[in-house]
Amino acid sequence: MKDTTTFSIPVLFNVHSFQTDLISWYLSIKRDLPWRLNQDPYRVWVSEIMLQQTQVDTVIPYFNQFMNRFPTTYDLANAEEQDVLKSWEGLGYYSRARNLHAAVKEVVASYDGEVPHEKDKLKKLKGIGPYTLGAILSIAFNQPEPAVDGNVMRVMSRVFHIEEDIAKPRTKKIFEDVVREVISHDDPSSFNQGLMELGALICTPQKPKCDQCPVQEHCLAYEYGNQTDLPIKSKKKKQKQTDFYGLIIQNKHGELLIQKRPSEGLLANLWEFPLMPKSELPIEEWFKQHYGADLSVNAKRGQVRHVFSHVIWNIELVFAQVEGEEIDYGQFVTADQLKEYPFPNVQYKMMDEIL
Ligand code: ADE
Repeated sequence: MKDTTTFSIPVLFNVHSFQTDLISWYLSIKRDLPWRLNQDPYRVWVSEIMLQQTQVDTVIPYFNQFMNRFPTTYDLANAEEQDVLKSWEGLGYYSRARNLHAAVKEVVASYDGEVPHEKDKLKKLKGIGPYTLGAILSIAFNQPEPAVDGNVMRVMSRVFHIEEDIAKPRTKKIFEDVVREVISHDDPSSFNQGLMELGALICTPQKPKCDQCPVQEHCLAYEYGNQTDLPIKSKKKKQKQTDFYGLIIQNKHGELLIQKRPSEGLLANLWEFPLMPKSELPIEEWFKQHYGADLSVNAKRGQVRHVFSHVIWNIELVFAQVEGEEIDYGQFVTADQLKEYPFPNVQYKMMDEIL
């Protein structure tokens, strides 16, 4: 049977020349990004967590604001989780923020607030997977460790003409092994950031700018002329759709009902207007069962759709009035007070429909 889990660098591949071409290009064009100001491992760590699944341009203002608010590991460790989530509001994938917060608390408790440079210690921290581990070790501590994300897999699949399906989790290991073989030991930080920069600026998914590529002469896909066929990526499963009523409920003072989401799962510990899964049950009955109060529905108006990585929410907005003052769950706030709570983007879309 064909062994699909190993890949060998071509014998004639000039590793040293590849490293030099990549690094000198990176050093000459590298963008002036705020996390490149210095090699502070805490800053590198925060930036790499924010940059997962998120574009550089989106991250920059979040990073600056986060660093102003929590400039050291101690500041972050001592912060309330709600304040950390508020700082992350809009960036998505909120478990990144919760894990970072928990891990930084651990750094303060166990390592005097100093981010450890030892691989074994670092990789035990919450939220530090192989990519973040390699990024911190190489960028902050100059250790020759791979930091392989989607961009790096695209670049390396083209340079070495690797046809493994990058949608499969085990494929990442192949790319990590390849990077381990070719990474510069003199400047692993610039090497890894050079690969990232190449993926972002030149070796783009659709129309790679091969004429401007510093490693064109090393690239097998360029030689074969099939660079846009790579990487191979099988289609992921379609997201499941879920239908909700989004309940915009006022009390007689005109305040709005909001609630904190459960501490586990999607959007954990963020706030929301109540979401009722669409069912056979009348809205009033469902509400009475869950909130112990009577509701009178005024109107159904407006529709919000939000696509997460694994699910799609379709939300029909329902405007209603609650009877009485007492409610078993959630709290009433004024429209002004809403901005004190961390809400996910899907809830901002709902606010756009009502405020
Ligand atoms: N994407 C992931 N990490 C990055 C970094 N350090 N600089 C620019 N883009 C990135």
